Amino acid sequence: MPSPCTLLIFGATGHLVTHKLLPALYQLEAAERLHSATRIVGFGRRPWSDENWREQVLCQLVAHFSAAKLRETVLTQLLARLHFVEGDLEQIEGYQKFADRWRGAEDWPKHLLTYLAVAPRDYARIAEQLAATELNREDGNWSRLVVEKPFGFDVESATILDHALRQHFHEEQLYRIDHYLGKSTVQNILVFRFANLLLEPLWNRNYIDHVQIFHAEAQGIEARAGFYDGVGALRDMIQSHLLQMLTLVAMEPPPNLDAEALRDEKVKVLRSIRPISREAVHAQAYRAQYAAGQLGTTRCASYREEPGVAANSTTETYAALKLYIDNWRWRGVPFYLRTGKRLERSGSLIAIRFKHPPQQLFQFTAIERLKPNWLLLNLQPNECMRLEIQVKQPGLELRTQTERLDASSCTLPPEHIDAYAALLLDVIAGDHSHFLRTDEVNWAWQVIDPILKLWATERDFIPTYAAGSWGPTEANRLFDRDDQHWRNGLDD
Ligand code: BG6
Repeated sequence: MPSPCTLLIFGATGHLVTHKLLPALYQLEAAERLHSATRIVGFGRRPWSDENWREQVLCQLVAHFSAAKLRETVLTQLLARLHFVEGDLEQIEGYQKFADRWRGAEDWPKHLLTYLAVAPRDYARIAEQLAATELNREDGNWSRLVVEKPFGFDVESATILDHALRQHFHEEQLYRIDHYLGKSTVQNILVFRFANLLLEPLWNRNYIDHVQIFHAEAQGIEARAGFYDGVGALRDMIQSHLLQMLTLVAMEPPPNLDAEALRDEKVKVLRSIRPISREAVHAQAYRAQYAAGQLGTTRCASYREEPGVAANSTTETYAALKLYIDNWRWRGVPFYLRTGKRLERSGSLIAIRFKHPPQQLFQFTAIERLKPNWLLLNLQPNECMRLEIQVKQPGLELRTQTERLDASSCTLPPEHIDAYAALLLDVIAGDHSHFLRTDEVNWAWQVIDPILKLWATERDFIPTYAAGSWGPTEANRLFDRDDQHWRNGLDD
């Protein structure tokens, strides 16, 4: 059973808490993974009592899961843990009010987990106020700070932010969260690669043609213009989630599973990524924004028509990127990273294409063109591992067809345990393996920095793609060869 702690949440009424954290806490409660003494405290400007917040949370959970799926006893236990402290992030009074209440309440655990589910511009201020009220102190109990991405806006701002946080919290206390590292298939990459011998001899430039990492969303930006406009897809998805997946696919086996050993190997991958020169940006990166379109039977507005978005915004909602990792294992193998909002269908996929066999043994047979092998690791909406191989079609002719070998998990319904549930347990256990180290964040920014810098100078125009499509066809120009094409899902 994890240690009891007090979970203090900043941004308690925001999108992240409503859509991710509260559902994750409900799942942890249902799985009996919260210590019975654990308390959850929301911090915010609304003049709410504990009871008011409980009512809000109840409504949010009902909206998220639907009433029929919620278990009465689990709900009652979870709601009983909730408290609310009224305060303004900027003013010390709220922090003091929380500190007094927390210190005075004997039944509130003294391990403190502070979660910053607020805009990154507020992180430094909150860290400072926590320190001023000595909530960062560890006297026999721990005090841990969870910070959400984006960690900064570019290399420089990330360094400044890091410096500001580390004035008050040391690295051991900081948990930089990337929720993709809590997803089961993402965690499975390591197990799949290092618990099996089968693929390791093939996992390199001699056998792999290229790797694609793709995240698609059918949704637009919803009510997140305040966060998203000016940030864009490259920062929002690629700098964090997609690059993290790339490191796990590409890393060398670590000496052990310690957080530091693991993170050392991931950093080595990021450091080995060939820097993109300014002249190469257009050959290696492409961006676009969704125009109005049709998703199924629904007519979708363009990005610029979304509430809160500037009418002349050139923020990208789609970004595709080609990277090379200049080390012995990967030199010359392109890694294509791609993401977009308002695409045809939601899903996340890692697709690994193998090379053609060296001898064209079948060239004078009825087989027109051999298709390559693919290994597909599907993260969302359902977890699935698939191997595509070529076999002979039954019958008299020597023709081939693609056989799909699916793991048995492919037929299971989509995963319902949220990545945040797993990651919260890791923070409580003090395990940093699935959190980012400061140098990792910095190297990830360095990878995309040249692109950000060039794009920042090209703010007059942005290409568009129709909402509901698979994105701009111009992104095909990133491919190294004509026989490469995008994989949009397991079947296409
Ligand atoms: C977030 C991004 O980090 O990840 C969002 O800010 C994106 O824009 C989300 O929609 C995707 O996460 P998931 O778990 O829904 O695939």
